Amino acid sequence: MILNQWYAILPSKSVKPQGIVGLKRLNLNLALFRNAQGELGCVVDQCSHRGAALSKGEMKGNCLMCPFHGLEFDPRGECTFVPALGKASTADLRRFNVTAYPVREKHGIIYFWYGDSAKVTEELPFFAAHVDETYVYSEIEDHWEAHYSRCIENQLDVVHVPIVHHNTIGKGN
Ligand code: FES
Repeated sequence: MILNQWYAILPSKSVKPQGIVGLKRLNLNLALFRNAQGELGCVVDQCSHRGAALSKGEMKGNCLMCPFHGLEFDPRGECTFVPALGKASTADLRRFNVTAYPVREKHGIIYFWYGDSAKVTEELPFFAAHVDETYVYSEIEDHWEAHYSRCIENQLDVVHVPIVHHNTIGKGN
């Protein structure tokens, strides 16, 4: 992959209010979640305590709660609560922080920054510079058991369609 770029990873609507989605992108297992304030978080899908999948947890206010022992994490990956320590605890919880990844939303798309978080750019990739306001777009979801580079190459190679798919989608072309 090319480092230090934004990648479109999921439609915004896929992460509902107070929802959690586990997914694999860029060979990373991620837990995406939306807290009570609508803020989107993206953390590694592995709890810092004993490794449970955070995507199997639940939302508690502004935090994602691990399904195993209930540690809570905010959208920055910071551990905010350890139930076993009790509400009155003043212990330093930073050792439980999990890796959080920069994410942004625009055009109904969730973008993920792959690379050095110190190099995050404000501009998100889109087609706006190349199309006018009449432009519309839609999306489909289709899982292919193939490397992403093969999928892109396949979609760009339109001239194979009437040959390879002459009796289906390429019929008549
Ligand atoms: S494994 Fe997550 S709280 Fe223990």
